[in-house]
Amino acid sequence: MSRKLFVTTALPYANGNFHIGHIMEYIQADIWVRVQRMQGHEVNFVGADDAHGAPIMIAAEKAGKTPQQFVADIAAGRKPYLDGFHISFDNWHSTDAPENHELARQIYRDLKANDLISSKTIEQFFDPEKSMFLPDRFIKGTCPRCGTKDQYGDNCENCGAVYAPTDLKNPYSALSGATPVLKSSEHFFFRLSDPRCVAFLEQWTQDGKLQEEVANKVSEWFSPRQNPDGSMSEGLGDWDISRDAPYFGIEIPDAPGKYFYVWLDAPVGYLASLKNLLEKRGQDYDAYMADPALEQVHFIGKDIITFHTLFWPAMLHFSGRKTPDNIFVHGFLTVNNGEKMSKSRGTGLDPLKYLGLGMNPEWLRYYLAAKLSSRNEDIDFNADDFMARVNSDLVGKYINIASRAAGFIAKRFGGKLGEVSGDGDALLEHLRDAMPSLAELYAEREYGKALREIMLLADRVNAYVDQNKPWELAKQEGMEGHLHDVCTVCIEAFRLLTLYLKPVLPALATQVEDFLKIEPLRWSDAAKGLGKGHLIGDYKHLMQRVDIKQLDALFEPPALTEQAPEATETIAPGGEDIAPVITIDDFAKIDLRIAQIVNCEAVEGSTKLLRLTLDVGEGKTRNVFSGIASAYKPEDLVGKLTVMVANLTPRKMKFGLSEGMVLAASHADEKATPGIYVLNPWPGAQPGMRVR
Ligand code: 2FM
Ligand code: ZN
Repeated sequence: MSRKLFVTTALPYANGNFHIGHIMEYIQADIWVRVQRMQGHEVNFVGADDAHGAPIMIAAEKAGKTPQQFVADIAAGRKPYLDGFHISFDNWHSTDAPENHELARQIYRDLKANDLISSKTIEQFFDPEKSMFLPDRFIKGTCPRCGTKDQYGDNCENCGAVYAPTDLKNPYSALSGATPVLKSSEHFFFRLSDPRCVAFLEQWTQDGKLQEEVANKVSEWFSPRQNPDGSMSEGLGDWDISRDAPYFGIEIPDAPGKYFYVWLDAPVGYLASLKNLLEKRGQDYDAYMADPALEQVHFIGKDIITFHTLFWPAMLHFSGRKTPDNIFVHGFLTVNNGEKMSKSRGTGLDPLKYLGLGMNPEWLRYYLAAKLSSRNEDIDFNADDFMARVNSDLVGKYINIASRAAGFIAKRFGGKLGEVSGDGDALLEHLRDAMPSLAELYAEREYGKALREIMLLADRVNAYVDQNKPWELAKQEGMEGHLHDVCTVCIEAFRLLTLYLKPVLPALATQVEDFLKIEPLRWSDAAKGLGKGHLIGDYKHLMQRVDIKQLDALFEPPALTEQAPEATETIAPGGEDIAPVITIDDFAKIDLRIAQIVNCEAVEGSTKLLRLTLDVGEGKTRNVFSGIASAYKPEDLVGKLTVMVANLTPRKMKFGLSEGMVLAASHADEKATPGIYVLNPWPGAQPGMRVR
């Protein structure tokens, strides 16, 4: 029976680009989603930016932007990561979108109508200069236990003491430096301590929706704890869900100047993104959610278990909504033996740098999948292990099967497959029999085990090739038929292995589908065969091996100039910040063309300039002066292709008219990091082609 699934990953704060931890979670969820889709199940897989909260409001102010502009700029940078690693979200939205405002306010109203919202006056640190209440991480001071200065409001990094911000000695605001004052304000609370909530959650968290280790951990939180007002509560404490203006968030109904704490509306963003998707498709959100067959699944990291296993299901249940069917929790990802990730030390794995180096995203998908299990234990990215697994397992064991057989099929049998007989049949039977258990391992998120099983199958296929030695059969008289059989078995085995790897390696699977001239592989295709006479295409090499140089470059620390502060959070690429975001319409105004340098000569009287004669396919040439004489000899440029701005106002210079500009890359600080690099398109580009 076909399942109906609504799947999410945790919504990332919109205050920075994705890091490798985000990508790991998305890959884990994406593999699971692809498995379901390949089995014919209907999946809506959605994400969104978690836009609200004081830290984002403060970061936006620092950047001189409105919070809305700030989060929009972050959102504009998401696509290269998601596309780059083949994450198949159906929708990406924002918690600041109207759907989320509306849904969060409605959920709150429903909880209130159910008598689960209370209010009390509490005292908090207030920054008199900034006129705002300070979140704990923006209050600093001297540790009350060991006396170390400049410690955060919740714990001491030196002695490990845990305390309330009000315990700090000489507290100060990390925003303004001002001494905070205690100020009281009315806050709203979700009454989780209500016996109805406790009873519901005790049952909900222990009935098999959570991993065992997660359920055990959560059960500890039902023991007595202190309420925010200092009183003790049997079981769960009430949850403070409001913040005072100024705050970037959703205003609480009938409470001007009060906003939902970011964690109240963040998970509602799952629903908002789904609603947005369904509405774009003309589907009814309420009807979709009302279907009892719908399964709701959240993938999250182990740091946000409380929010997803207590607050979120309680919010949903007591507002009369469907609760999640599963919360799948993963551990953290460390890089190179658990060294703390730090850009300045170069131990982190920057996902965009990885892609920019031309590294195959499916290497990373394969490697992470090989390490992932259904447990929430931490995993480590180890560069040597990565190279070994990709090169010897993925390429050495799997890809090689196709390359060992495809040539013979093409050259000796006109690309047509032959019969499968004898031990080949037994081998394929063994491969097909593995299908149900592999499907189950994937469904249980035991990807590491699934891939180990698949590699054992690949070993069996390689052993079959080694026994039958097609390269020797090819030389023997009268062995034509047997050679055809053996190669056919290899191709069929390769098809099955590709099917089993497809959730992890979707782009590679598409290439194989093209090569085998077959429809997109689905789980049920394991039972079918290609059949005698099936025509396959030409084999092109499907996957390169990892080159050690790529890994060296990936982990090479970015060059830090003397002036650059150590361990800054972001290092400006090329020595300067990325320019403000522009629209595609802005970009379209710049007419970039492929130009051929038909002539190039030094300019008398200038040490900097070269005079270029460019053919931009207009039937006449253009004269352009370019400040690249320090980097190129004129004769080295003649005949080369480059890229020019073709619609720049011509500029009258001392040496003549310059009718455009040639594009070249350089570091912002050319003295510290010299070098000018003229752009050169890939072969095949023709003068006059537009660059877009
Ligand atoms: O921890 C985080 O990064 C949060 N932004 C996750 C939110 S998940 C969901 F609740 F939105
Ligand atoms: Zn201390």
